[in-house]
Amino acid sequence: MTPRSLEQLYTALEERHLEKMTFQEVRRALQALSSLYVQRRGRLQRGHGLDTAGKRAAFALFYGTLHFIQVREVVRELGLDQLPISTIFDLGCGTGTSGAAWARECTSAVSLKGFDQNAWAIAEARWVYQGLGLKGEAVQGDLLRAKWGQPGTGVLLAFSANELEPGPRQRLLTRLIRAAGNGATLLIIEPISRKVTPWLEEWSEKLSPSGAQLRDWRFSVELPDRFALLDKAAGLDHRSEITCRTLCCRPD
Ligand SMILES: C[S@@+](CC[C@H](N)C(=O)[O-])C[C@H]1O[C@@H](n2cnc3c(N)ncnc32)[C@H](O)[C@@H]1O
Repeated sequence: MTPRSLEQLYTALEERHLEKMTFQEVRRALQALSSLYVQRRGRLQRGHGLDTAGKRAAFALFYGTLHFIQVREVVRELGLDQLPISTIFDLGCGTGTSGAAWARECTSAVSLKGFDQNAWAIAEARWVYQGLGLKGEAVQGDLLRAKWGQPGTGVLLAFSANELEPGPRQRLLTRLIRAAGNGATLLIIEPISRKVTPWLEEWSEKLSPSGAQLRDWRFSVELPDRFALLDKAAGLDHRSEITCRTLCCRPD
């Protein structure tokens, strides 16, 4: 695939993920996955988010695209596209679209390094990076064991920090504080609901010496037609508004 626009990316994702599954099967899997995200988040920490072919297809197609849009909009609004960042570390990269969205906006040459514990997600992230013509690699492993956060780099946690247990999340915060102090740019993006991220206020306080800013976002964005169709068929509602919450630290 060589997609250039969001519409083309979505078409390529659809060709890939609707090859072995019908639209209705993906729609049902998306409803199951969305209910996990909203009502049964504890199961995500036990790896239930990507445990069936249907949920994987629904994630790649729907949430991969949604997260791409959210990160792209936030990066533009915060001016992160203008920073001279050499590498973006995408921690818990999933199918790679969030990191790809940031990298695509950058005005200077940047490479991507995605980490995820899930082997299927890593294969998808490689496909996305290649398809979008982005330099970088995706590596399977625990985000806490990976090396990241060097000065002049970006660190992205897109909808992944909330999947960690409290202990590992605390260790992650300690590393983020060190990375921000060393001059890395941090972007943490999560759902707008406070229920999902009660820990984000504490993170904001602890990162405030590095200039952390916590913000809620509401965007109205033109969606790919087929994405909007799946959104509607699954009873979701992103056509009028897309929301998210971010915590961002950038060097002065
Ligand atoms: C909701 S998905 C978000 C994926 C991607 N960042 C995005 O925006 O679409 C969360 C991802 O975090 C990954 N993850 C959770 N805990 C992890 C850990 N300790 N190390 C590496 N990856 C992890 C999961 O495998 C999953 O792919």
